[in-house]
Amino acid sequence: MKVEALPVTKGDYNLQDYNQAYETFDWSQVEKEFSWYETGKVNAAYEAIDKHANSFRKNKVALYYRDGNRDEKYTYKEMKDLSNKAANVLKQADVEKGDRVFIFMPRSPELYFSVLGAIKLGAIVGPLFEAFMEGAVKDRLEDSDAKVLITTPELLQRVPVDELPALKHVILVGENITEEGPFLDFHKRLEEASKDLRIEWVERTDGLLLHYTSGSTGKPKGVLHVHNAMIQHYQTAKWVLDLKDDDVYWCTADPGWVTGTSYGIFGPWLVGASNVIIGGRFSPDTWYQALEDYGVTVWYSAPTAFRMLMGAGDDLVKKYDLSGLRHILSVGEPLNPEVVRWGVKVFNNRIHDTWWMTETGGQTICNYPCLEVKPGSMGKPIPGVKAAIVDDQGNELPPYRMGNLAIKKGWPSMMYTIWNNQEKYESYFMQGDWYVSGDSAYMDEEGYFWFQGRIDDVIMTAGERVGPFEVESKLVEHPAVAEAGVIGKPDPVRGEIIKAFIALRDGYTESDELIEDIRQFVKKGLAAHAAPREIEFRDKLPKTRSGKIMRRVLKAWELDLPTGDLSTMED
Ligand code: WTA
Repeated sequence: MKVEALPVTKGDYNLQDYNQAYETFDWSQVEKEFSWYETGKVNAAYEAIDKHANSFRKNKVALYYRDGNRDEKYTYKEMKDLSNKAANVLKQADVEKGDRVFIFMPRSPELYFSVLGAIKLGAIVGPLFEAFMEGAVKDRLEDSDAKVLITTPELLQRVPVDELPALKHVILVGENITEEGPFLDFHKRLEEASKDLRIEWVERTDGLLLHYTSGSTGKPKGVLHVHNAMIQHYQTAKWVLDLKDDDVYWCTADPGWVTGTSYGIFGPWLVGASNVIIGGRFSPDTWYQALEDYGVTVWYSAPTAFRMLMGAGDDLVKKYDLSGLRHILSVGEPLNPEVVRWGVKVFNNRIHDTWWMTETGGQTICNYPCLEVKPGSMGKPIPGVKAAIVDDQGNELPPYRMGNLAIKKGWPSMMYTIWNNQEKYESYFMQGDWYVSGDSAYMDEEGYFWFQGRIDDVIMTAGERVGPFEVESKLVEHPAVAEAGVIGKPDPVRGEIIKAFIALRDGYTESDELIEDIRQFVKKGLAAHAAPREIEFRDKLPKTRSGKIMRRVLKAWELDLPTGDLSTMED
């Protein structure tokens, strides 16, 4: 099974370095880059911003921001001052070390000042997608006992403040804010706040970020990351993103997703790069325009976006001068070989796939600049990460055998726990020290990993991880729905789309209006991306005798596959 490999991109590290690093590299070598090497204490926001603001990078642009009418840039020195000010605003809302501060707003400089400011106080930041609706917001604030929320007046409508007893303050980022009850005016207070701050120095195992993500059962779970993770963010920003001082870097991900924090905040800023943030929705024109205008050199995005750009046609991309682009990366879903070949054609660059998860906190299996890219493969484990394919007992399997993609415990950005659910955390591990990802894959004889699919029923739609259980739970809240089963249906652009099978309650009949009503119901209750694109009605859904919906059978129906063993199905 030989795949034609594409030659390497020029980077700082060559294959020999890589092979050698794989033998000799030890994460403790990276630690001396950070303050704890001397003081024993650290703060990731200091390392990302203040350190550079106090160096030759002081007047270097740290953040370029564009969205609609706003077009701004901030140097490292300005980022330091503004994040200090934001920290002082948060202090006025009684934020202390360990408190959960949630941020629910569109990408804007204020969002980044707030994230950094909260971290400077030692708080744990919970970033939420602006697309979340009330149910999704409430679940997360409730589970984490969030003390402070930073949001906009528009999004406030989706926050049931009265039903969240732990929530003490809501800081509003907008115009004409009236300060009463729990509400504080961000802009007014930011303006008045001091730029002097005593940073909270923390332990490396103190909380940094709380990212909620979906599994196949239960509500979304809070994956806790700690300051120690930045060791990996820093090192992969060098090895994998290949960032150097003259690079202009753009990561297209929202910080509501781990890619938008690990590689939209920490990776680029820990190494002192210039970071581009583009707000608003995806559109091929704005994206190409941004690549050209900022002279982006390193670009990190996702397969769905690349496929949509591919769909927009090669004539469009030819209108822009993208000659500055020298390194492109992808994450989140399988990257089709066809897309890699298209990248070579239109960008004159290989798109480098990277595999990792919310739980791994940072890149783990990647195509480095110095590796030959085999289109369709996720690449190889980075030095300091040991990955393997294991069977269900945790035994390592030889090349080409499909099994569980697993990683040996101990890489620096590994999740620290699942919030309020240590049991769930422990359930990820097999034989003590294999972290089992939930993905199936195989490894070839050269050590490249090839993704095969999810083992559980988690749906990846346009790069977003959606738990079928969450959607099903929302669906059955609709008055017409008796039972619902949700699966991911393969889709050429989005990877998968959400398809729901529904059995209606007595007295309801199927109609286009009802379908639309059900879709809106999920949209309003959870988020637009969680609403099923397709709905099919059935008299009865396949269930086990214990009453669990058999999604595997639904999938087989959908794809015209054999349904497999039905012995546990009720008749
Ligand atoms: C999938 C955080 C194929 C995979 C970044 C994983 C991928 C899940 C790749 C994690 C890739 C991520 N190729 N599949 N390069 N990268 N995935 O936590 O199923 O939202 O388990 O992503 O995305 O999703 P998460």
